[in-house]
Amino acid sequence: MSQVANFYNKIAKVYPLFDLFLHEPKKKLLSRVNREKKGSLLEIGVGRGDNLPHYVHQPVTGIDVSEGMLDYARKKAPAHCKLCIMDACHLDFPDNSFDYCVISHVLSVVDNPMAVMDEVHRVVTPGGRVFMLNHESRGPMREKLNKKLAPFSKVLHFSATFDMEALVDASKFTLLDRGRYGLIPSITMMVIQKKSEPEARPPAAARRDN
Ligand SMILES: C[S@@+](CC[C@H](N)C(=O)[O-])C[C@H]1O[C@@H](n2cnc3c(N)ncnc32)[C@H](O)[C@@H]1O
Repeated sequence: MSQVANFYNKIAKVYPLFDLFLHEPKKKLLSRVNREKKGSLLEIGVGRGDNLPHYVHQPVTGIDVSEGMLDYARKKAPAHCKLCIMDACHLDFPDNSFDYCVISHVLSVVDNPMAVMDEVHRVVTPGGRVFMLNHESRGPMREKLNKKLAPFSKVLHFSATFDMEALVDASKFTLLDRGRYGLIPSITMMVIQKKSEPEARPPAAARRDN
């Protein structure tokens, strides 16, 4: 079992305490997702499943690496929700399976967020939308903050400073929306859309000419 799964199994019961300041941005995320026309939805790192009873979308699939967190999610999940233990870096779904994907406070805790984004791109339909919510820090303060928060990040298994936009490959996704929410100023929501065809990158020589 991964260290992250082990950590979340241990804290599953008290996770709502960690979550206290995140309610407002999560509500915003949910209402943004529910404004979309109905479709199939995958929530990655579904945790205790707080969103599950509130989605207007069907069917809903939730995955997580922590059995402890999923145990709570199972108690809340409506009948049309399917919950599975699964690693976001290796999603066991065919290509183009979902109209929507939600990934809330997960990219900063997984070992390889780039691999997760590759998998998200693979399983979402062309034109499908991805809703990302996370704390973010960009710019010159980043390194300083990183050093200060390093001891906490290690114990709490998360990356304290994190650039979400850097994970979005502009040849594969279009950025539709980006906003900051909540009491913690660095909480950011991004809505991105999978391009129908990934844009070919110009050959290296042409890029040098520009
Ligand atoms: C900070 S919690 C967020 C839970 C929920 N999304 C929320 O917003 O409350 C992070 C969740 O991601 C899960 N997780 C961590 N690494 C994962 C991975 N590689 N694949 C799937 N889930 C993962 C954890 O088990 C945990 O439930």
